Amino acid sequence: MRKTGTTITRRGFGAILAAGLMATSLAACGNSDTGSESGGDGDGQIVLGFSQVGAESGWRTANTNSIKESAEKAGIKLQFDDAQQKQENQIKAIRNFIQQKVDVIAFSPVVESGWDTVLKEAKDAKIPVILTDRAVDSADKSLYKTFIGSDFVKEGRLSGEWLVEQKKDATGPVNIVELQGTTGSAPANDRKKGFAEAIAANPNLKIVASQSGDFTRAGGKQVMEQFLKANPKIDVLFAHNDDMGLGALEAITAAGKVPGKDITIITIDAVKDGMQALADGKFNFIAECSPLLGDQLMDLVKKVKAGEEVPARVETQETTFTQEQAKAALPTRKY
Ligand code: AHR
Repeated sequence: MRKTGTTITRRGFGAILAAGLMATSLAACGNSDTGSESGGDGDGQIVLGFSQVGAESGWRTANTNSIKESAEKAGIKLQFDDAQQKQENQIKAIRNFIQQKVDVIAFSPVVESGWDTVLKEAKDAKIPVILTDRAVDSADKSLYKTFIGSDFVKEGRLSGEWLVEQKKDATGPVNIVELQGTTGSAPANDRKKGFAEAIAANPNLKIVASQSGDFTRAGGKQVMEQFLKANPKIDVLFAHNDDMGLGALEAITAAGKVPGKDITIITIDAVKDGMQALADGKFNFIAECSPLLGDQLMDLVKKVKAGEEVPARVETQETTFTQEQAKAALPTRKY
């Protein structure tokens, strides 16, 4: 039986590149994004090259698992690369996928800008590209077939609207600190925007400090320590993901404050650890961001390979959680 999931280490790419170059020179002509030709495998099985952002958060681990499991289930051969949160690694991986003449390339772009050149190379090689989870800011939309993922602006807005409602009776300033995601990434840009737009409804709500914690627990803890030292009165923490919020919990507790009571904590994702913190009263609100994109992605891969039309945007269905809702949802939470 053929193995459908393959993880490529950075070192393993050298060998694959050499094999890919050999295959390229032997191939009669290029791969087609209209489904008329088979790609790198030669046996009819669809080959998907997937460049993942990294392993920075619980969300990312769940997303990687979803993609690997769905590829296996769909009988798609997955070439998986972990870019370790570096754009240059993603560009290298995409170029290697092009050399290998995979059928379809999918990737979750670590940052929004700087993709036009490599996307143009994929287009010239007639390999269709699917964006998953995060968007790019390329003006030329013909560089990719579709984008599947969440509405990050909405997640930020829902978080802000909840806070506006909670603090509607506040008579003085409400000081907010913000832990941003990876600088330049779509979720960091969009969540910041949506949240800022929503809290503008109440002039008492003020962001007094905002810095990146890179979507990691360690980053969240370290930046929250700085926030606590520099700001004697912090009423609210808005963290762009659960992991940074979880890291911040340690800093808040170490500073002698009670998370969820002395400081209201809002996060995004709703992974199990975040939901547990919410159910335990340490977080106050979570806007969900679903990492379970695998099945929908594999459907899109098949359609794109078959030359079928796909919608330009596929949006993930999501919800929000209060403490009570988290308690009810936790027992059946999948990730
Ligand atoms: O792009 C999705 C974001 O990336 C998730 O919210 C965050 O946890 C992850 O690292």
